[in-house]
Amino acid sequence: MPTYIVLLGPPGVGKGTQAKLIAETTGLPHVSSGDLFRENIKNETELGKLAQSFMNKGELVPDDVTISMIRGRLSRPDCKGGALLDGFPRTTVQADSLASLLAEFDGKVNYVPYITASETTLIERLSGRWTCKAQGHVFHEKYNPPQRTGVCDFDGSQLYQREDDRAETVTRRIQVYFAQTAPLIAHYREGGLLSEIDGAQPIEKVTADLLVVLRK
Ligand code: AP5
Repeated sequence: MPTYIVLLGPPGVGKGTQAKLIAETTGLPHVSSGDLFRENIKNETELGKLAQSFMNKGELVPDDVTISMIRGRLSRPDCKGGALLDGFPRTTVQADSLASLLAEFDGKVNYVPYITASETTLIERLSGRWTCKAQGHVFHEKYNPPQRTGVCDFDGSQLYQREDDRAETVTRRIQVYFAQTAPLIAHYREGGLLSEIDGAQPIEKVTADLLVVLRK
């Protein structure tokens, strides 16, 4: 049976940071809807152009295109054993579609770690985040600085600040999260899948707590 993990939590809580670390430990591919959209934006595809118009305003990309993109990604051979989903699902429509899609692969959502932190922490993390242009590695100017300012430790590419990390867009992303994604907390809690993790701790401590949940 494949294993599917859904990492839930607000913008900037550390889902991407943790997903990269957990993917290494579990061997599961990291499937990030945000990264897939950013790849499409970089390659100037039609999907990328559409996604960008929503992302720059801090709004969600429409469900139908998002679901179809994730369907395509989860159908690839490297996801045969499951996947670590980061940023998807984000609405109840997406959660229902995911359940149907995984049933087609004889799977289901097995774990939903829900990472939490205060709004002040989220804003501080997003405003100090630097992302690598080549592969999306993530740094923070204070909490996780690169060895050389502006340069990715892993692939030497240039670091940039995401367009949607501007203060006004961050505020909107957090509002959208509470309105459209937070209902999934109750949805997965009712299914007995949710485990709450304190994301305000240092990165290594959050990883350790996540691994405890995933070993259950
Ligand atoms: P997406 O890219 O998914 O953004 P997000 O969910 O808003 O999450 P972030 O990537 O901003 O934060 P994160 O939780 O991964 O934190 P990170 O590890 O980087 O989505 C972007 C947009 O795409 C959406 O707004 C929407 O428009 C669209 N989209 C995506 N998915 C969609 C979907 N399913 N449906 C519709 N639209 C969708 O960490 C943040 C910073 O904090 C970093 O600098 C990091 O170094 C630092 N940090 C991390 N952990 C710690 C720690 N423990 N202590 C101190 N610092 C830390």
